[in-house]
Amino acid sequence: MVKELIVKNRSCRRFYENYLIDIEMLRDFVDCARLSASGANLQPLKYILSCDSQKNSLIFSNIAWAGYLKKWPGPEEGERPSAYVIILGDRTISPTFGCDHGIAAQSILLGATEQGLGGCMINSVKREEMQRVLTLPKQCEILLVIAIGKPKEKVVIEPVGAKGDIQYWRDSEGVHHVPKRSLDEIIIG
Ligand SMILES: Cc1cc2nc3c(=O)[nH]c(=O)nc-3n(C[C@H](O)[C@H](O)[C@H](O)COP(=O)(O)O)c2cc1C
Repeated sequence: MVKELIVKNRSCRRFYENYLIDIEMLRDFVDCARLSASGANLQPLKYILSCDSQKNSLIFSNIAWAGYLKKWPGPEEGERPSAYVIILGDRTISPTFGCDHGIAAQSILLGATEQGLGGCMINSVKREEMQRVLTLPKQCEILLVIAIGKPKEKVVIEPVGAKGDIQYWRDSEGVHHVPKRSLDEIIIG
């Protein structure tokens, strides 16, 4: 079951934007993160939730999508995420955040996937601008943005080809392909 969920949990970048996600659902996803592991159990992460169009558009303006799809500027209106969770690191609790935000992000996305939603972790963020437009607390550092919505695109995993190219690509039908290295390649001892 867990593995099925992990396989289903692909990065998705086009959504049915008019599908509404409410704040209680987002709180429940963050609860999955809250219950996850944290280095030294410091729990330095804080969260900003967004599921209204005004706040969503402020966030959307400050993130970048799919660097390998050079000709694609990101999801058009109507296909943008219905919600976001911004993961912040609170420097008053710890100066560094280790891999806590990666673990939290995966927990959030697995929670969303289980509910038939999908999403994408986003690290390409105009951090200063986002901090300013959302008036985020100064002691908090933006670590990751998670876009969430009802998936409108098909994403498939495939083995990395003979040339070793790991870049994801989109075919003429709009299907998004994600090459994954084999188990034998990554287990080296
Ligand atoms: C830490 C991290 C940062 C990422 N940042 C971005 C990003 O800024 N924009 C984006 O479109 N995708 C981003 N992604 C999604 C990756 O491109 C995606 O995980 C990768 O292509 C593999 O696809 P998969 O998640 O379906 O396995 C990020 C993923 C991770 C783990």
